[in-house]
Amino acid sequence: MTMFTAPKGVPEYFPPRSRAFVDVRAHLARPAELAGYSYIELPVFEDTALYVRGVGESTDVVSKEMYTFEDRGGRSITLRPEGTAGVMRSVVENRLDKGQLPVKLWYAGPFFRAERPQHGRYRQLQQVGVEAIGSDDPALDAEVIAIGDEAFRSLGLTQYTLDLTSLGCATCRPPYRDLLQAFLAGLDLDEATRERAAINPLRVLDDKRESVQDQLTDAPLMVDHLCSDCSSHYDQVREYLRAMNVIWREAPRMVRGLDYYTRTTFEFTHDLLGAQSGIGGGGRYDGLMASVGGDDLSGIGFGLGTDRTLLACEAEGLAPGSAPHLDAFLVPIGAAAKARLVSLGAQLREAGVRTDLAYGDRGLKGAMKAADRSGAPLVIVVGDAEVESGVAQVKTMATGDQATVAWPDLITFISSAIERDHT
Ligand code: HAM
Repeated sequence: MTMFTAPKGVPEYFPPRSRAFVDVRAHLARPAELAGYSYIELPVFEDTALYVRGVGESTDVVSKEMYTFEDRGGRSITLRPEGTAGVMRSVVENRLDKGQLPVKLWYAGPFFRAERPQHGRYRQLQQVGVEAIGSDDPALDAEVIAIGDEAFRSLGLTQYTLDLTSLGCATCRPPYRDLLQAFLAGLDLDEATRERAAINPLRVLDDKRESVQDQLTDAPLMVDHLCSDCSSHYDQVREYLRAMNVIWREAPRMVRGLDYYTRTTFEFTHDLLGAQSGIGGGGRYDGLMASVGGDDLSGIGFGLGTDRTLLACEAEGLAPGSAPHLDAFLVPIGAAAKARLVSLGAQLREAGVRTDLAYGDRGLKGAMKAADRSGAPLVIVVGDAEVESGVAQVKTMATGDQATVAWPDLITFISSAIERDHT
């Protein structure tokens, strides 16, 4: 028999860790919900050209990492490597930008990049993202950054850093690019690096090799060459961030993996994750909407890595999703008791009590073991004697206390015990 295995580089989340995953995702999304972002569910694949145009041909994501194939109608399709281009397409196509601005959206789900798999670097990766479209108000930049920061903080994470910079705009970036290119031309660089400098000189700033970094000490930086509009925009963003008590580090050499960024650009990195330390990133993308055929509206957003955030929580010894996932566990001993408890189970669930039952007609010992493993704080045992007298034994697992409760009182008894437990 063939044994099938999951595709390489694709993480799976099954119990009990899947509970942590779901909890992390919920925490990452909640601050966006609290700030009025509405959910958008997007296609997992789009026209290849959308990503080529939107994300940029010179990026690794587009040139090396896309899962591209021809569908049965001969169209070139790509599994989404990121979410921003798809959101832009949907906003333009569905005219979401014709109502009140900014349009504030959040999304969550899998993205696909054919990277070399390693710890924290996957071919199917999960993100929670937001996009705010149609306003260049610096307070909106600060809001987006602050909700990313709050998302991580709400999980209890502390060992991460927010890096921040401004990448300028269509007015100040081209002259800066020329300046940087001229500076790089005077350095001792290998052929491949020279080629990179010709296509996107900013990427050379991110070169990890010491021989290159040593020569870059005096390289001109974008933040020192911002036009007055960008400079005042960036000052205001930082002022609002201070007002929201967000702490950041200036990162004038930051280089993002996607080409659409302008002005405010940021990244969250976690100190305990080694090489794949980026737990989230984003920024403004003022020309993107127009480049995919829409009006020339500005926008800003982020993508937070759900997989890596879970790894970060684990590295900090946090245990998201570890609260019991059941309230009550039912243990029937004998057929009559089983009929009674199957019906009680349905009633409890209807009353909002999370309930499971010992299936398989096990003896008391085996069933109690299952009850223990379930993590449910309350265990309800009914045997022949209880059926006869119309009662159930309700055991509180934390204390070992046991109460004999008449059937008509059971639902109220259990519900209030659980409420006490939750408060
Ligand atoms: P990104 O920086 O490419 O940005 O990805 C965002 C986050 O997704 C990263 O910080 C990282 O946590 C996670 N991530 C990326 N690739 C992988 C991978 N191979 N394995 C595991 N996690 C990964 C974007 O995708 C932009 N669309 C974000 C954005 C939205 N910018 C503006 N709006």
